[in-house]
Formats: sequence, structure tokens, C-alpha cells
Amino acid sequence: MAALSTRRFALDLATPIVLASGPAGFGFELDGSLVAAVGALTTKTVTPEPRAGNPQPRLVDCPSGLLNSIGLENPGFAAFVEEYLPRVLDLPTRRIISLAADRPDEIGRMVGLLEEISEIDGVELNLSCPNVDAVIIGTNPALVGEFVRQSRALTTHPMFVKLPGDSTTMIPAAAAALNAGADGLTLINSVSGLRIDHRIGLPMLHRTTGGLCGPAILPIALARVYEARRAFPDALIIGTGGVTDVEGAIEMLAAGADAVGIGYGVMADPSLPARLTAELETWLTEHRYASPADIIGAAHRGGFDVP
Ligand code: FUM
Repeated sequence: MAALSTRRFALDLATPIVLASGPAGFGFELDGSLVAAVGALTTKTVTPEPRAGNPQPRLVDCPSGLLNSIGLENPGFAAFVEEYLPRVLDLPTRRIISLAADRPDEIGRMVGLLEEISEIDGVELNLSCPNVDAVIIGTNPALVGEFVRQSRALTTHPMFVKLPGDSTTMIPAAAAALNAGADGLTLINSVSGLRIDHRIGLPMLHRTTGGLCGPAILPIALARVYEARRAFPDALIIGTGGVTDVEGAIEMLAAGADAVGIGYGVMADPSLPARLTAELETWLTEHRYASPADIIGAAHRGGFDVP
């Protein structure tokens, strides 16, 4: 039987299938056995102050996915630490805390306060939410560097930086993040998209555009992960975007991801990540691979050993 653990990672994961930030909330909304079957949970993004989020509708159906516009609804950092974090720390998996802020010192302050909590397995700086008024920090390499620098100075926790997949500056932004001390990249966030109500000729979302997620963005996420792996052979990469079956997870690993984040797929079927973990193990065993490490980045070195 193949072993699913992946240790090249700053995190020592039991399986490369992880819950992406957002749809899985703070993890305790899901059945415990489903959480135990994944390598890590990335929490919903937390901001310095509470946010009520965007007006309804927040989800709009699309061919092969949906547009989301949640607007970073969350209880704020103080309430998160007081009321939610203790339950997150009880989860039977690794925990990565997702954080966002408008300024580098604000995100650094939160990262610094989490440093005392040794049970946290990592932090993810979400520099790419497409659904709030602030600029998308992740498109600006200099800003990305500053956000990471100020956070890195205050923590020893593994740090990941989530970047947009629809920016022309992803590689320079990723380089800035890694040079400033990030351990890894989470690629990609949802992709800016628009739907118009054909009956009235107006955008269906209040903020006009939203974040497209689901199978529609799998090829975009694969391209960005492939490019990042080629540019940064040693970086840790969590590939996130449109994976809803084991074939997609295998593609993501072959493109160069160390772990595969599941977001939209959890909304469609909360048991999906657990099923992917089991199916990946079966696939590796049937193909005589000892572990996911054997196929990570295979697309860059001649593909699989197909008999
Ligand atoms: O609307 C949202 O809360 C989305 C967040 C994100 O994609 O980072």
C-alpha cells in the first residue's frame, strides 16, 4: 500500500489532500471523520476587525463552477482567537490559519499574536481576495514583499502566501514572497468573473464581479502551478483551484504541487476530500508508486513511468 504522507513540506502532512480556505469554514462545521481524512484544514480568512461580508446574492451558478462574493465575512481576529481557535486546535488534522489585512503591520500583528500558539501548523497570508474594496495586494510584488517581511519577522510558523491566478505579475509576486521569507505559495485564488442577468441586463452580484471557482478554473490553476514549479524548483506549493476528482488531484501533483487544496469541491460534496485521499492512495498503489513524492512535478521530468 502506498504511504500518503508528504514530508518535503514544511508541514508534515498525512496526505497531500487539504481543505482550502473558505468553504470548510473553521473546520468544526464538517463531520470530524471527514476532517481527520485530510492533511490539513486552512481556516476561513480572518481579518483584524469583524466583517459582515457582502450583500446577497453571494453565489451565482456558472457553467462548470460558480461565482462567489462572500466579502471575507468573519468574526474578526479577537473573537476568532477567543471563541473559535480553541475548537480549531482540537481538530484531528493540521491547521493553517488564513489571515488578511489592508496593511502589512496589521497582518504582522495577527501573525505575531499567533506565534505563542505552538499547536498551529502554519499561517496563510491571503493576499488575493477578489471580493473586497482594498487593492489586491498579491498583484503588486513590492507590497507582497512588505507584507511577508513584516509577518516573517514575528513568527517561526510555516508561512504560505496565497496569490491570484489571473495576474500578469504572479511570478514576480511569488519571488518577492519567497525572498522575504515565505515558506511556500498557495496557488491560486478564485479568478475574477462576471455574470449578467439576461432578463434585466445587469450584473448579478452587487460588486459586479466575483471570484470564479470550480472545474472551470482547473486548467488555469494547473498552468500557474506549473509555471511556479518551473520558476521555483524548491518552493513549497499548495495547488488550489477546480480539483473535484482524483484525476484532477493527480494532475495538480504532476504540475508541481506538494499538496492539493479543495475548495469548491467541499461545497458541492463535503465528503469529497476524504474520498480523494482514499482514491489517491489506491491510484498510487495500483501504479506502484510508494508515495505522492514520486509523482510531484512529474510533468517537468518526462511524466509518469507508463509501461
Ligand atoms: O469573498 C470572499 O470572502 C473570498 C475570499 C477569497 O477568495 O479569498
